[in-house]
Amino acid sequence: MQSDFTWKSLAIFTLVTGLAGLWLANAPSHDEAVFPMPRGKTLVNECGRCHAAYAPGLLPARSWRKMMDALDDHFGEDASVLEPVSLALLKDLEDMAADGAFADMRMRRIAGAVPVDEAPQRVTETAYFKAMHASVPKHYWKNPVVGSPGNCGACHPGANEGRFSELELGMPGSLSDFVRR
Ligand code: HEC
Ligand code: HEC
Repeated sequence: MQSDFTWKSLAIFTLVTGLAGLWLANAPSHDEAVFPMPRGKTLVNECGRCHAAYAPGLLPARSWRKMMDALDDHFGEDASVLEPVSLALLKDLEDMAADGAFADMRMRRIAGAVPVDEAPQRVTETAYFKAMHASVPKHYWKNPVVGSPGNCGACHPGANEGRFSELELGMPGSLSDFVRR
């Protein structure tokens, strides 16, 4: 019957556009260099005390496991936390790691470039980090505001929210000319 057919197509049309809308709403983050951060403030409070709170998606899970196993000797410093806290942190780091179940294409590329028998402890030593920064002029790194390449926040003000988009670069005065338009 004519009218049944119309209602059915309308229902299908609504469903399809609804799904497309959902898909679009979730899509942009893949292109904008936004890494998911765990809910709550534990990672930022505990791991952001001495440096940026590195997003879990910057390293594979085995790197985080190795790091969380030896927090009392963390790059020569004691960064240990109480066990319930470290277990909760490890779970978030593993769940959201570069090779975690919900990793997007960007994170999969990060993980894919790490040899399977390695568990790098530095984000700045990964092939991905080096590739992303290959064209950043040397003098940016030497700026005393930066200090070390691991000081993401000096150039990426959104680092502690996992935001690294080229459109959000913010080193005072000198990086603005780097933004591609
Ligand atoms: C007591 C201070 C302190 C705390 C707390 C701390 N770290 Fe660190 N972290 C350091 C130091 C020092 C370095 C080495 C910095 C350098 O040499 O550039 C470092 C380096 C790192 C690096 C490598 C950065 C790079 O160069 O790519 C990662 C990843 C890291 N820390 C993760 C964590 C995580 C995860 C936590 C929380 C569980 C944490 N840190 C807590 C002091 C700390
Ligand atoms: C000296 C300044 C500086 C520091 C420090 C720095 N970055 Fe960057 N980063 C840049 C610049 C500039 C670009 C854009 C490079 C380009 O477009 O070729 C960039 C690009 C990126 C991108 C790719 C962005 C995109 O849109 O695809 C990621 C991801 C990133 N950085 C992560 C990090 C992380 C993680 C850290 C710390 C471990 C860090 N950066 C430290 C300057 C910096």
